[in-house]
Amino acid sequence: FQVVTEVVTHKLNHIPIFKGDFASLPPKVQRFVAEKAELMNPAGIYICDGSQKEYDDIVDKLVERGVLTPLKAYENNYLCRTDPRDVARVESKTWMVTKDKYDSVCHTPEGVRPIMGQWMSEEQFGVELDARFPGCMAGRPMYVVPYSMGPGGPLSKIGIELTDSSYVVLCMRTMTRMGQKVIDALGDQDFVRCIHSVGLPRPVKAKVINHWPCNPEKVMIAHRPKEREIWSFGSGYGGNSILGKKCFALRIACNIGRDEGWLAEHMLIMGVTNPEGQEKFIAAAFPSACGKTNLAMLTPTIPGWKVRVVGDDIAWMKFGEDGRLYAINPEAGFFGVAPGTSHKTNAMAMESFQKNSIFTNVAETADGEYFWEGLEKELKERKGYSEEQLKQLEITNWLGDRWHIGDEGKAAHPNSRFTAPAAQCPTIHPDWEAPQGVPIDAIVFGGRRPEGVPLVFESFSWEHGILVGALVKSETTAAAEFTGKNVMHDPMAMRPFMGYNYGKYLEHWIKLGKAPNKAPKIFHVNWFRETKDHKFLWPGFGDNIRVLDWILRRVSGDEDIALETAIGYVPKRGTINLDGLPRIDWNELMSIPKPYWEEDIDESRHFLDSQVGSDLPQPIRDELDKLEKRIHSL
Ligand code: GTP
Ligand code: MN
Ligand code: MN
Repeated sequence: FQVVTEVVTHKLNHIPIFKGDFASLPPKVQRFVAEKAELMNPAGIYICDGSQKEYDDIVDKLVERGVLTPLKAYENNYLCRTDPRDVARVESKTWMVTKDKYDSVCHTPEGVRPIMGQWMSEEQFGVELDARFPGCMAGRPMYVVPYSMGPGGPLSKIGIELTDSSYVVLCMRTMTRMGQKVIDALGDQDFVRCIHSVGLPRPVKAKVINHWPCNPEKVMIAHRPKEREIWSFGSGYGGNSILGKKCFALRIACNIGRDEGWLAEHMLIMGVTNPEGQEKFIAAAFPSACGKTNLAMLTPTIPGWKVRVVGDDIAWMKFGEDGRLYAINPEAGFFGVAPGTSHKTNAMAMESFQKNSIFTNVAETADGEYFWEGLEKELKERKGYSEEQLKQLEITNWLGDRWHIGDEGKAAHPNSRFTAPAAQCPTIHPDWEAPQGVPIDAIVFGGRRPEGVPLVFESFSWEHGILVGALVKSETTAAAEFTGKNVMHDPMAMRPFMGYNYGKYLEHWIKLGKAPNKAPKIFHVNWFRETKDHKFLWPGFGDNIRVLDWILRRVSGDEDIALETAIGYVPKRGTINLDGLPRIDWNELMSIPKPYWEEDIDESRHFLDSQVGSDLPQPIRDELDKLEKRIHSL
């Protein structure tokens, strides 16, 4: 212990401390910081205390440098434009590093590239690390960001992120519980080690665009689950750089959950209170940009209902002593998709980011307001503009160019995001920070399925529900680097976030749902079914409460409202409240076309055979066989 401290002090001799007290950090943290500083050679070390003053100081500096622009219409809201090459998660550069390949990915047949996780050998990782990290922070400060995922208590976990991006520090302060209080709680415990660099040491040789240093050619987001370590290089964009989020709270955490007997999932958590005053909790997994944030914050369109948000993106869930499944939201903020967000679609999100928020790659109006696709109508009404005036409004688009509504291209990048403190949401649940979590009554899967998949169905059992989750598919969105609209598999909405062998992951799910644990019912929803001329058949958003109403009545044991079909229980006609809606084409919305499902089941089998292969647990294979039989006898 003493020797280590000595070595540490020695190593830090040539690297100044810009802020904070290095010597008061727990010895393990000192060693981590010293080792990595030695490797990356920053200009100095800045230990974050998480205070408002620290946040404000960093903001001021970034405004001065042109990285952030104050959005003058609000209090403490800022716009950030990234390098246009750094706008989304980069799944093709994201890796799991384990000794045994099959700890990370499944036994796929010869020539089939696994899509649920990419594996890199430890040797290769060593080579890639050496080609990137030595000296990578030269001329930049290295921020030490201690943070907790979760509000503290038995389900929470601590990480420390080292980063040379001050934007990341600001986002981490909003998205996690960050600062000195975490160091105090940590003591001598272990923590998840997170190393992030924009990958552009000074003096910079490449041209820096928008004051946003990054290194797109050398992006690497590597995870070492066994060592509980994350190495991220070359990108400053949220999902690649705010390491508490996808990297820790999903990819590393699902490994910890596997070892400790819990689940880390890409799920929202919401409390739904019916007109009788009974509250139930729902956890729902939809792929990126498929409606989690919107559902979690929905404003009900039928009277008497109340929805409150616990989390909008990630759930850590563990069965309690009483056999019920409890969930916490490990995050403290929302990192939400901006385009499409308006008072009409998601008023509660709008209310959450009126102050203290950062907007990345949105547009700005001449009045210093944020702007993106979907805000046209409310802007026009609020300002009392004529159609002509609206078109003349001066807007600066996400690229920094002059732009008008109706011009070519987009005002905001389709994956532009708001970063807002969760506590600012008017419908934040009073128990959102309860250390033991909230009890989950239903799990819901869903995706963008333009064809064939009814508005809602209920699985027959826990195992069948896991198969339903394993077969989640969705049209691709702008949240990752894919282009074009293809329906892709995104099992459990976790494809980009899987931290270990997916077959083992399914096994873990099966095991946890066994008695004496009381497994919640599992449902599937589809807000995105379309008519032949590509109009949505279901109004969505606030009207989704009508579907939640049906789901919760099923949870309460209402037998009379469901019909058994090949794919699960569906609502009987008339059991979903459609009062006040324009005409809904119920038959089209709820149909289960045999040709579609015959093709779909073949494709599903092919997917599971080729992507999970021999790792597919037998109970799931049995469920697949049963489903196939039911579909053929439709
Ligand atoms: P990540 O934060 O990337 O994980 O995505 P998310 O699941 O939180 O998606 P989000 O709620 O931000 O929704 C993404 C897009 O889907 C937005 O453009 C929404 O307008 C749209 N959307 C959300 N809910 C609905 C709905 O019920 N119906 C329709 N048609 N669109 C929706
Ligand atoms: Mn997400
Ligand atoms: Mn979201």
